[in-house]
Amino acid sequence: MERLHAVAEVRERVTQWRRESRAVGLVPTMGNLHDGHLSLVREARRHCERVVVSVFVNPTQFGPGEDFDAYPRTLEADAERLREAGVEMLFAPTVEAMYPLGANRTWVEVDALGDHLCGADRPGHFRGVATVVSKLFNIVQPDVAVFGEKDFQQLAILRRMATELLFPIRIIGAPTAREADGLAMSSRNGFLTETERARAPLLQQHLQDARRAVEQGERDFRALEKRLTVSLADHGFEVDYLTVANADTLAPAGPDDRDLLIAAAARLGKPRLIDNLTLSLPAG
Ligand code: PAF
Repeated sequence: MERLHAVAEVRERVTQWRRESRAVGLVPTMGNLHDGHLSLVREARRHCERVVVSVFVNPTQFGPGEDFDAYPRTLEADAERLREAGVEMLFAPTVEAMYPLGANRTWVEVDALGDHLCGADRPGHFRGVATVVSKLFNIVQPDVAVFGEKDFQQLAILRRMATELLFPIRIIGAPTAREADGLAMSSRNGFLTETERARAPLLQQHLQDARRAVEQGERDFRALEKRLTVSLADHGFEVDYLTVANADTLAPAGPDDRDLLIAAAARLGKPRLIDNLTLSLPAG
C-alpha cells in the first residue's frame, strides 16, 4: 500500500491505473478507522481493482465549539488496518494541500436537503462536506465512491451533488455496520463511558419502536416523535432530533408519504450519536 500526501502524486498514480484500464474506487474518511469503514472498503473492492482511502479531518465541516481539535487522529493505526485490508493507496493530505489559499472562498452547497435533520443543528456542516468531497473527487477522479448509510443525509446530499455537478462517479451507499448489540459503529463511540456504552443501543431500539408503530398504522408522526424523544430523554439522552421524514426530501413526513426515513441524533454524555432506518409502506 502506498501512503501519499501530495495531490500531484495521487493524480500521477491514478493516471497510471487508468492507462492500465483499472477501475478506481474511493472511500473518503476522517480516519480513526473501525470495522464500519472496512465494510466500505470491502464494498469498494467489489466494484474496483484499485481502492483509495482518504483520511482527512476536514476543518470546514466542523462548527465553532464542535470537536475538530479533539477528533481522534490515529494515522499509523489506520494505515496498518488499510494495509491488512489490501487497500492500494492511503491518501492523507494536509490541510494546506486541500485548502491551498488558506481561508476557503469556493463552496459547494446542495440546497434544501441540508435544511433538515443534522443540517438544522449544524449550519455549514454539509457545505463543508460537499466542498471537501468535490475536492477529493477532482483529485482522485474515481469511478466509484462509497459512503455509509449511517450518514443518510450526507449520502443523499452527495448523490445529488454528483448528479447535478455531472461527476462521472457512481455513488454507492453501504449498509450501517453494527456492534453485536445493534449500536451503529462510529469513531465517536470511543468517547462513551461504560455505563453510557451499555445504554447506547437504545437509540437504534427507539428507531425500531418507531418503525413498528408506523407499520401498525400510526400516522401522527409528530406525536410519535414526541413520545419517543421523551422516552430517550428518560434514559439520559439529550435528543437533537428524532424524526419521521420523507426519505427523498428529508423534510418531516406527512401521513401520505410512503418512503420514510426514521432518523435520530442524540448526545449521550460527550459524544453525539446518530442512527437511522428506512421504511417503505405499501401504496394506498
Ligand atoms: O463521513 C465522513 O467521514 C466525512 O463527512 C467525509 C465524507 C469523509 C467528508 O469529510
